[in-house]
Amino acid sequence: MIRHFLEIDDLTADELRTVLDQATHLTSPQVLKGKGMALIWLKPSARTRNSAEMAVVQLGGHPVSIRADEISIGKRETSADVARTLGCYHSAIGARVFDHAVLSQMAAVNVVPIVNMLSDDTHPLQALADLLTLRQEFGSLSGLTVAYLGDFANVARSLAVGLAMVGSKMVACCPPGYGPTSLDRDKVAALGGELALVERPEQAVINADCVTTDAWYSMGQEAQAEARAKAFEGYSVNEKIMSSAPERAVFLHCLPAHRGQEVTNDVLDGPQSRIWRQAENRMHAARALFGFVVGASGTGAVV
Ligand code: CP
Ligand code: NVA
Repeated sequence: MIRHFLEIDDLTADELRTVLDQATHLTSPQVLKGKGMALIWLKPSARTRNSAEMAVVQLGGHPVSIRADEISIGKRETSADVARTLGCYHSAIGARVFDHAVLSQMAAVNVVPIVNMLSDDTHPLQALADLLTLRQEFGSLSGLTVAYLGDFANVARSLAVGLAMVGSKMVACCPPGYGPTSLDRDKVAALGGELALVERPEQAVINADCVTTDAWYSMGQEAQAEARAKAFEGYSVNEKIMSSAPERAVFLHCLPAHRGQEVTNDVLDGPQSRIWRQAENRMHAARALFGFVVGASGTGAVV
């Protein structure tokens, strides 16, 4: 069976643990030896592109990155035909897209695993790295509380689901209209998790093991930057917020950060920040995840 990874709960809780364990091994089975992985970039990327390309190299394979203008998905060719074509040459396809449906359409072809490298809806590779970073910090993942301040978008959504899968919870504090939907909350609840919503940032962080946030406007929302800056006033993670959290709390950010907006420099660069470890973990998490889906799908090299 071809195993796609469009959201973190495409893994079972046991598989998630296996992938996180594998991510701590610096050497991996060479499941991509002599094979390729296509990496499609319809939006910009620094961390995901570099960590994904290096993950493929570490699995013995060859990454082929493809920019939007080189394939013009939906204009020159359908998503399904792009997947069928790339599946002729590669053991897996990763894609960063605007519309999540592009990923579903590629997965429906079912020739090689499709890996979500960020869509407007979700960012599960980021959530894997976030969980890995939290596990390194606290030794275990169960029973943790993560406070999320700001825009409940792709990064927050995948992290909330991931936390539910490992027995931890998220407390979100978002301006009206920018919080989790009832679908988000239902999904977390169905996984046995908790996604609480509170009104004041200080309230969100009071028992937090981790405080995290994301940009107030995501890629594709640049025209809303000014309006959102107003709507999110008061939701910045600053020293005052961090001092309302327990001393043990760490700060995470998927990056890129808009310094001075969703987070201040003193927090980003302060003693509780683990952002560079988190960024490095993107590569370890990607290596483990790619190895898992290619191995489980039987599309890679025999090792
Ligand atoms: N965190 C993250 O996905 O960063 P990039 O957009 O640079 O890949
Ligand atoms: N929410 C952000 C995450 C960037 C990694 C975006 O989609 O632009």
